Parts: sequence; structure tokens; C-alpha cells
Amino acid sequence: MRWPAAHTLADGSESLPADAARIGYGADYNPEQWPEEVWADDMRLMREAGVNIVSLGIFSWALLQPTPDTWDFGWLDRAIDLLHANGIAVDLATATASPPPWLTELHPEVLPVTRTGETIWPGGRQQWRPTSPVFRRYALALVEQMAERYADHPALSMWHISNELGCHNVYDFSDDAASAFRTWLEARYGSLVELNRAWGTAFWSQNYSAWSQILPPRLAATHPNPTQQLDFARFSSDALKDYLIDEREILRRVTPTVPITTNFMVMGETRGMDYADWAGEIDLVSNDHYLLVADPQAFEELSFSANLTGQIAGRAPWFLMEHSTSAVNWQPVNQAKSPGQLRRDSLTHLAHGADAICFFQWRASLAGAEKFHSAMLPHAGPDSTVFQSVTRFGAELAGLAEVAGSRTKQARIGILFDWDSWWAAELDSHPTELLRYKTEAMAWYTAALANGLQADIVPARSVLSGPGLAGSALNGYDVVIAPMLYLVPIPLADALADYAQGGGHLVVGVFSGIADADDHIHPGGYPGAFRELLGIRAQEFGGLLAGQTVALTGELPAGSTGSLLTHDVTVGPDVEVLARFADGPFPGVPAITTRELPGGGRASFVGTVLDRAALTAFVGRISADAGLSSPLPEDVRGSVQLAVRQSDTEEYLFYINHSARAVTVALRPADGALASLDLGGSTLAADSLTLPATGVAVLRRPRTEARP
Ligand code: GAL
Repeated sequence: MRWPAAHTLADGSESLPADAARIGYGADYNPEQWPEEVWADDMRLMREAGVNIVSLGIFSWALLQPTPDTWDFGWLDRAIDLLHANGIAVDLATATASPPPWLTELHPEVLPVTRTGETIWPGGRQQWRPTSPVFRRYALALVEQMAERYADHPALSMWHISNELGCHNVYDFSDDAASAFRTWLEARYGSLVELNRAWGTAFWSQNYSAWSQILPPRLAATHPNPTQQLDFARFSSDALKDYLIDEREILRRVTPTVPITTNFMVMGETRGMDYADWAGEIDLVSNDHYLLVADPQAFEELSFSANLTGQIAGRAPWFLMEHSTSAVNWQPVNQAKSPGQLRRDSLTHLAHGADAICFFQWRASLAGAEKFHSAMLPHAGPDSTVFQSVTRFGAELAGLAEVAGSRTKQARIGILFDWDSWWAAELDSHPTELLRYKTEAMAWYTAALANGLQADIVPARSVLSGPGLAGSALNGYDVVIAPMLYLVPIPLADALADYAQGGGHLVVGVFSGIADADDHIHPGGYPGAFRELLGIRAQEFGGLLAGQTVALTGELPAGSTGSLLTHDVTVGPDVEVLARFADGPFPGVPAITTRELPGGGRASFVGTVLDRAALTAFVGRISADAGLSSPLPEDVRGSVQLAVRQSDTEEYLFYINHSARAVTVALRPADGALASLDLGGSTLAADSLTLPATGVAVLRRPRTEARP
């Protein structure tokens, strides 16, 4: 973040100097939805709430360029000036997120097309094809105008490219997409021979004899070619990245020193954009996160997403661009947040490296599709519970300023996360349609939390990147878990084998190591990519029906079960069997295996989806074997999460009570001298910390590397 230089504000006071530590606090600000008389009130209330940054102009293209040949920046000039005069920095959007009606009337060929050939018409937002050259021409002209006009504005702190790229338009099956897909495929494969090989087109008479025959996977009579589908997912992520780069290039040329971001959506089942791949294209990672009220593991999902965002950012600070103060409007049923939840959710993001906590939006709209979405300033006005919470929390964040700039501490358990596997593993025509990639990854993360341990969600892509140091992203992890890592190119399999042979413990989950980068089976028995390392071999899958379970015996809690999928594993002589199926498709067959490797490392396999208690117990066992012990006492594990950030000299410990009851955490002598930084209703005693329901305490101690 680049904060504005110190200057005199409208009320005669001095703003903070640019280098003063602070946590960003604010929202999307849409002043164009309000008469200008309201703006003065906005400024007063923003200052009261402690707002120091807003995102501006996100959906304002139609007002900024009312016709193809006219521009109206007057209102935006006045809004930026006013914000600056009130000491509020601006994350300025390039305003390209939603094209104006004149553009789509003039050029209907920019409108996206669905898989079944329907046009996505204007009336909502983001109705543009990522690959449309016409859209790009108009959008980039707007970016140029914005960049030139505001380049030297002292409030300009950051550029916000478009908005949630791909939220509604990641998959476009139009003719523009078809032509860009062919270009992408030519670059990837070089020749039709190679494409035909990769796509396995000998199957079902699909051999292509000219590039022009190739299409996006539009509605087909039956299961479309899986590699075509996978490549289309890859291409679609790349097409948006390419668009992002085009906007970025203009901004970099005109304002080389202004940081550039675009808001990711690392949340829930949003999967179209490979953000681990995009992150290198921007200066600062920012993320939008919303809880799904119907999700019984909403807290764990938030924590997972915040952690993954931090890993995507290389454990450097990132920017929470949007979350909600209370209810959203777009779920089937929307619920207000419970008391303390705004604080708890915000501090959970902060604990995972966010250096800014922002919301959608500043003032709740009176009209439009989002009029029932919460905001910092709700319909009820400033004398509302939400505004009071917002104001209280703003003051609290100001007190946490010293945390800004610190990095998240690396956990000792890494859970691999991979968009290719997410896309490929959930394609049709598999042993089961019931397995869900994100659910599997989440299950392992939740099991770590239930053991009082933090795990990192490590993008598999990072294992192969870096200066020729395959596996370096895994340094420092005692245990690396590969949940449902279905698609494993040979270099990734090699890097993971190196990790385990070098002394780490690699745990391979169900339906992993099955296919190569082209989604072709690794032959010779499953899980082909890991068969040798694990010392096992399976010949068949046993899919289980929804609700069907198999009993497990062995070193697991009594009554443990598996579900969704089983493998008929046979094991080599040096493999220890930790659990077996008692019934189901493969009675008596090993369900969990482990093999000690010559270098002191270990490779284990879990061949079914363990129930929660069984998975928790298993993660407890492998962590203990790796010498990991929870810093939390047993009675609070699974209710309290401890996440740690560290600066050069300090450690910041976030104790997050995500349960609905008060808990007391016994502190250990090994925790060292803990001082309170922000208790927010918790009580810190010499040997204990008591947290109210949904309470979060931020403690601090000097950093020493030796501490477990
Ligand atoms: C995001 C979007 C915002 C707003 C918000 C509502 O997807 O960026 O503009 O729509 O959701 O939750």
C-alpha cells in the first residue's frame, strides 16, 4: 500500500504521514448513487468510523463515459478531492467492471454466450467477453483516461483493476472465445498432432484435422472430451489474466509507482480463476470473502480462505477488499451477523495476514439489486448497532497499527491446493461424482484445527516455481498433505517424492496421483504418480453411494468409517497397514498405509474419506509422530484457533474463539511472556486467557525462533 503524504485536512488538522503504520479500514464507496449533499455526511461519518481508505468508481463507467464520445469526470474529481481533504486514501477502480448500455447496444458482439448458446444480456453486470477485442478496445481507452487523469492525484494509493474478474463471466463460449481458445491451444501444443495426443481424440472419432474445427466445450450429446474441458478451464483463467495484464500495462506505463491490485475471490466454491497463477501479475494481493450462512463450517472456511490468500501472497500482507458487516443479499436466505461476529471475522482475516479490513459497502443502497446488502452505514443510519460496531472496530484497528507489515508465521503442516486438480477431479465420468475437491481440502484443514494446530494451504503451483529449487515451497513443513491431488504432472510427483525422501512426511489422500497434466491415467495401477513412493498398488475403485459408509478397523477411534470412495490396495513388504476396511466393496483391504523411507521420511496413504473423528485422530497421530505439539490445551482445541504473525522483533498471537461459549485457555510456561495488545472483552491472567463467545484476543511477545 502507498499511503498519501501528510497534508492539511479540511478541518485544519494534519493527516497521518505516509510512513505511519496503520491497518487499512474502509469500504467500496459509491457516491454516484447519492446526491452530492449526502457526501459531506459521508465524510463526517467515515471519519467517525475510522475509515482511512475507500474503493472508488468500481461501477461508474456509464456515468464517466455517458456516450462513446463524451466524458464526465467532474463528479469523480469532486469525490476524490473531498476524500483527500478528509484524509481518506483512494483505491481507485479502473471502472471497467460493467460496460454501459450504449456499448452493448453498439456492439452486441461483446456479450458473453453460455455453454448452451444463450446470450448474457445487459441488465446485471459484467456482461462482457474476456476475449472480445472490441470490449478490450473500449475498456482500455477508459483505463487510459482514468490513469492519465488521476496519475498525480495525491489521494491515489492503489489501482483496483476492474472488479472480481470472472465473477460472472469466466466461462464464455462465444465465437471470440473459440478463436482465442484455438490460439491458446496452438501456443500450448504447437501442432494438431500434439493436441490430438493430449486430448486423446482417437476416442469417439474426435481427431481434429484443422484448428478451425476446435471449439469450446459447448453443449454436447454426452460427456464432452475431458481434456478439452480441462484446457478450457485453464484457458478461461488465462484469458482473464491476459485481460488483467492489458489493463495493468497501461497503469504501469502511466503511473509506475502506484501499486496495482485486483480483488480475488478466494472463497467457497469460486474456482474459475487460478489465483496462485495470477498473483505474480499484481503488486498487492487483495481478496473478497463472504460467509455462506448455510455452511456449518463457515468459520473454518473463512480461516481456510484467509490462509490460502496469505499463501498466495507469499505470506506477505494482503488486503481484505470486501466482506460484509452483516447480512448479504445474494444467498437463498440471508442472516444478520451475530454480535461480535464482525470483529471475529475481521480479526481472523487480520490474523492470516490482512493489512486492511474493508467491506462492501460504505452506505447501504436504497435502490438496485443490492439494497438489502449490509453496509458500514446501514439503512437504519448512524444510530444503529451495525454502525456502532463499525465505529468501535475502527478505533480498535487503529490500536493494532503495529501489526501492519508483519508476515504470517509458517505453519508446520502444509496442505497442497491446486486449481488443475480442482478442475479435473470434478469432471464428469469418474468413479464417483460425489467427491468434492474443496470439501476434501477443508476436511484436512479442519482436522488440523481440531488438533489445535495451524496448517497452511500451499498452492501446489508454488512447489514447482522458484529459481530451480523444486520443492523449496515445502521447506519448513514437517507434514505435507495432498488431499485429492488427482492431477499430478511428473515434476510435481518428483518434487513431492524428494520432499518425503528428504525427511518430510507426505500424506496422500483419496483419489490422488491418478492422472498426468493431460488428464491421462498414470498406468500400472493407482495411485500411479505415488505408487512407488507409497509402496502400494490399487487396481479398482469402490465408489460408495450417498450416505453409505464402510467400517474401519485398526489404529482409529472405535466406530470409524469411510465414505464416498475406496481403493482395493495391496501393499509392499515395507509398508505398515494402519487401518483396514471391515466391510464395503473391499473387506479386509488396507485403508490407511504408511511407509518409512530410507532418508528418514515417510509416505502415507488414506484410501477413503474418513469421518471427522477418524480424520482428527489420524491428523493427531501424524502430527505427534512428526514431533508437533499444539500450543493449545486439549479442552479448547477445535473451539479456539491460534494464528500467528511475526515482524522482525515481535510475534502477534491471535487467539480466536470460534465457538458460541466462553473458553479459558491455560497458557504454558513455553508461551513466554505474553502481553496484551487487544483483548476486546477477554481477560489475560498470568497463566490463562479467558475469551468470551466469538471473542478474539491479540497478544504479543518478543520473537524468538527457538519457540515450538
Ligand atoms: C462482490 C462484489 C460487490 C458486491 C458484493 C456483494 O461480489 O464485488 O460489488 O456485489 O459482492 O456481496
